[in-house]
Amino acid sequence: MSKKDRIVCGLDPGSTKICLIVARLRDSGSLEILGVGHAESAGFKRGVVVDLEQAAECIRKAVAEAETKAGVSVDWVAVGLSGEGVQSFNCRGAVPIEGKNHEVTHEDMAKVVRAAQSVPVPGNRQLIHVLPQEFFLDDWGDIRNPVGLTGSRLDADVHVVSVDASLVQNLINTVNHAAMRVRRVILQILASAESVLTPEEREIGTAVVDIGGGTTDIAILFRNAIRFTSVIPVGGSLFSRDLAIGLRTPIEDAECLKTTVGTLLTDTVVEDEMIDVPEIGTRNTRQLPRKAACRILRDRATELMELIRAQIDRGCERGQLLGGVVLTGGGSLLPGMVELAEQVLEVPARLGFPLGVQGLTDELNHPAYACVIGLAVLSTRPDIDPRKFSENPGHLPPLISRVLSWVES
Ligand SMILES: Nc1ncnc2c1ncn2[C@@H]1O[C@H](COP(=O)(O)OP(=O)(O)OP(=O)(O)O)[C@@H](O)[C@H]1O
Ligand SMILES: [Mg+2]
Repeated sequence: MSKKDRIVCGLDPGSTKICLIVARLRDSGSLEILGVGHAESAGFKRGVVVDLEQAAECIRKAVAEAETKAGVSVDWVAVGLSGEGVQSFNCRGAVPIEGKNHEVTHEDMAKVVRAAQSVPVPGNRQLIHVLPQEFFLDDWGDIRNPVGLTGSRLDADVHVVSVDASLVQNLINTVNHAAMRVRRVILQILASAESVLTPEEREIGTAVVDIGGGTTDIAILFRNAIRFTSVIPVGGSLFSRDLAIGLRTPIEDAECLKTTVGTLLTDTVVEDEMIDVPEIGTRNTRQLPRKAACRILRDRATELMELIRAQIDRGCERGQLLGGVVLTGGGSLLPGMVELAEQVLEVPARLGFPLGVQGLTDELNHPAYACVIGLAVLSTRPDIDPRKFSENPGHLPPLISRVLSWVES
């Protein structure tokens, strides 16, 4: 492999910041970050491109900065996707094992995954992930890799993620407009989970919750497989908006107050502590109780936690989350978020920082970078590519193959 082949890139088109990571994938499989570039997000809203020109300009800016810092030029990225256009579900397929001595082959495994995903997907949707969870051979379950085992019938459970095809196409067109190619489109929460969970947490059952600026994304993993994914259209920017409305202050000032004096631990704030709050439309500043501001944030956070709880309840039994909940994304940094999660979700919670990569600067060792680092890690992983189990990618339905041909590096 040439040196260039070992350079991998992740692009996180977040609602708050666009971020690109350039990293070196070493022979050992470990990842070393070489450079990072950012731009304030414009042209993206809650995971969706709303202004192609603006969004492409942000990507160009992030690419230029990352290339300068890394000292290499990049021409492809693995790009993260989120938003309300994402849908996911679990399904099961089965095939008979008819070969020599009823031994399962790679082809049998691919066939059963294809059988599992054969539920009809409407023409306007594109499959972006088909993730095997576990295999069953005759009556025996919990099989991670059935190849070489003997049986007469193979079943597979898979997690399928589909997206409104036009949203994927818009994202790819935007990246192309910034003179970059898309190697792979990856659900953002898969990347965040890859980045912040320990192997043990993936095994024993853990929910990862990425609270971004525009959306809160959730994944549940157990027995080392993705069991559930979901996107809630609520993120940190709504906390700032609530504060702006409640305190009658401009949005930028509300954002600043949130990150400087904001806390969800309202009991720790004394009644007479006052904060300076700029007034809308004048240069005046008023003194208001800090506690009132924090109560506004706490109301929004409680509502968000209840939405998260409802999604987690859709995805698993609470008793399956022995690893609890890992909160990541910039929004998780509001003081008291972990405590509130434990209270509302009734499982242990911790903050998730990126793990297992080299070259992590203080700046990148932050929950807001979990997703983009995970995108770089997953950018070349074959197991998340929906084509891995395809009979012939050229024979995919026209819309899917048209998009995949763009995606092909
Ligand atoms: N210290 C902090 N305290 C509270 N909130 C914070 C803090 N730091 C960042 N945030 C909030 O985190 C949010 C941005 O998080 P992040 O960078 O993960 O979002 P994003 O990836 O751009 O958005 P999305 O994932 O929704 O597309 C903003 O709403 C910001 O106000
Ligand atoms: Mg994000």
